[in-house]
Amino acid sequence: METVVSGIRSTGNLHLGNYFGAMGNFLKMQQEFNCFFFIADYHSLTTHPTPANLKNSVKQVLAEYLACGIDPEACTIYVQSDLPETAELYLLLNMNAYVGELERCTSFKDKIRQQPDNINAGLLTYPTLMAADILIHKAVKVPVGKDQEQHLEMARTFGNRFNRLYQTETFPEPYAFNFGNNLVKVPGLDGSGKMGKSEGEGNAVFLADPPEVIRKKVMRAVSDSGPTQPNQPKPEPITNLFTLMGLVSEPATLAHFNEAYDSCTIRYGDMKKQLAEDIIKFTAPLYDRIQTIVTDDVLLRKVMDSGKEKAKASAAKTIKEVREVIGFLR
Ligand code: TRP
Repeated sequence: METVVSGIRSTGNLHLGNYFGAMGNFLKMQQEFNCFFFIADYHSLTTHPTPANLKNSVKQVLAEYLACGIDPEACTIYVQSDLPETAELYLLLNMNAYVGELERCTSFKDKIRQQPDNINAGLLTYPTLMAADILIHKAVKVPVGKDQEQHLEMARTFGNRFNRLYQTETFPEPYAFNFGNNLVKVPGLDGSGKMGKSEGEGNAVFLADPPEVIRKKVMRAVSDSGPTQPNQPKPEPITNLFTLMGLVSEPATLAHFNEAYDSCTIRYGDMKKQLAEDIIKFTAPLYDRIQTIVTDDVLLRKVMDSGKEKAKASAAKTIKEVREVIGFLR
């Protein structure tokens, strides 16, 4: 069975965009492939060297994935720093990763601009660590978005280079994979583009947002003064509200506001109130499950321990092979 690896940012709290997008793919993949999902806490140090609450953010993210249906029986879900084999492979891959190619990486150039006072070697070698995450399990499928394409290309380069240098076939080539379907695009609340954490405060509704926060965010969503003529096309921010409503509300509710729009009687205040309540109704079971799981230290510990054990079995095999190939004494 083909192996899948995906890294989850330890600050990657799930919002509705992730839920309707990537999460569906994860749930399907865990049924069909040999999946390793991990929380990338090593990687987080490249931008946050002294995280205020690393333990809690890792637990929170883990709880959110479990609440959405990631099943520790069906896949391996683990914490990156529980697998020092990854760090060893990272070291070895770095010996054959060239500074020039790392410097040309778009994400590195972006980070230089974002944090000019902390251009650390971990940032430069972020792609090597990501390659190690993937290659340590000899994964061939990586469920990531377009923004990670260059990192994946580098993972292939590093794996192929290793094979060539040491005359082996240790590493297969990993490729991005999303079941070939276009991910559902969930618009944000800021009137343009997509729902995302980095798109600005209030743009995303998080699964762990309490009801009052959801109400506040939705009521502040961008709209306009309303249609002035019947049956006009909707401007983008309005389309976005309707798209969101289509995801969480009853079809009759959506139809009601569509008619109100077409007849110019729509009141966006009412629509947003309804949308907020429907989002709350939709996320409530997830919200409750997240709260239950995140406070269940016994469960979280169990999941992390069994994930660590399964991931280690896979990683130890690769590291043993790599060490032999390079020619270490033992
Ligand atoms: N770079 C990825 C992101 O920002 C996270 C990540 C780290 C990852 N290691 C990975 C994703 C390995 C897939 C495979 O989202």
